[in-house]
Amino acid sequence: MAKITPKPGIQDISLYVGGESQISGRKDVIKLSSNENPLGPSPKAIAAYQEAAKSLHLYPSSDHTSLRNAIAEIHGLDAANIVIGCGSDELISFLCRCFAGVGDEVLYTEHGFGMYKIAAQTVGATPVSAPEKNRVTDVDALLVACTERTKLVFIANPNNPTGTMTPVDEIIRLADNLPEQAMLVLDGAYAEYVEDFDGGASLVESRDNVVMTRTFSKIYGLGSLRIGWGYSNATIMDALFRMRGPFNVSTAALAAAEAAVRDRDYVDYCRGENAKWRAWLADELAAIEIPSDPSFANFILARFRSEEEVAKADAKLREHGVIARLVPKYNLPKAIRITVGDEVGCRRVVEALTEFRKEVG
Ligand SMILES: Cc1ncc(COP(=O)(O)O)c(C=O)c1O
Repeated sequence: MAKITPKPGIQDISLYVGGESQISGRKDVIKLSSNENPLGPSPKAIAAYQEAAKSLHLYPSSDHTSLRNAIAEIHGLDAANIVIGCGSDELISFLCRCFAGVGDEVLYTEHGFGMYKIAAQTVGATPVSAPEKNRVTDVDALLVACTERTKLVFIANPNNPTGTMTPVDEIIRLADNLPEQAMLVLDGAYAEYVEDFDGGASLVESRDNVVMTRTFSKIYGLGSLRIGWGYSNATIMDALFRMRGPFNVSTAALAAAEAAVRDRDYVDYCRGENAKWRAWLADELAAIEIPSDPSFANFILARFRSEEEVAKADAKLREHGVIARLVPKYNLPKAIRITVGDEVGCRRVVEALTEFRKEVG
């Protein structure tokens, strides 16, 4: 019998469970469980993807120059310090693989994105979670949780699944007070949903301990292509470039992402639609005693009175063909995260939860 076992710690990793997409027996399901853009990608991104079909036999670019230049041009950044990843998940993983290992600590917040813990565990580092204050990042709690072993501190801004934002001056205070061996990772997966927000780019440029990650999976509507990017200083980037596989993203993903990032009118349109329907959804739910914190992202975190209510509300949503996301693993057992859909999706959520409230009282 072979005695093959994974390295210590691998079997402690909980499998990441993605948002469900099907309800048996229903064809008109609306998936609001993965914070996808209900409007889909820019038509220009779709055209670029189709064009890429002509060169499927060729390896993709390994330096990603064209996309890096486009991102740099649009955001006013230095292309040399941009790295492209197979989703921002891959960049989170590269950061852990480059900068943390056994004996090191990776810090994040109580309701932080699930991949931070998983990525830390895959490299044998110790995941550490700091409390939040009313579902908002608490910089003091993070600073208290730092030790001489802390190597990475992950903050999503806006945060998933809370949708709340940490003010920029608080982020600066965090960056400036971290122990000298620790790096701040600002995860800007939802940054494009916030008007006039640079996701932390200026902080990257003014500090030497900050990294920003971004994705094409959310406002750009390219989740299936798996493409994201990161920005930091030359020293940190050098490590990520060495860690990155030469062909980690496909030609189709590179082409679609470049067309998407250049189509600013479409991004503005998506941001506007999201803001409009997010406000409508939050107001309608508040009126039936389902509160949520003001969200800066493309979802709201709807709060219920009990776990029993959550189960009933979720069942009612499913009865109406809506799949939302339960978040007990994020220490939020009395909440449901609901992606802001299009008008049809939002109206269906309100219809279902109005019925729920009438029945439950
Ligand atoms: C906060 C946050 N960061 C990162 C990601 C990963 O995105 P992707 O790997 O699709 O770029 C997500 C996806 O839901 C997220 O919510």
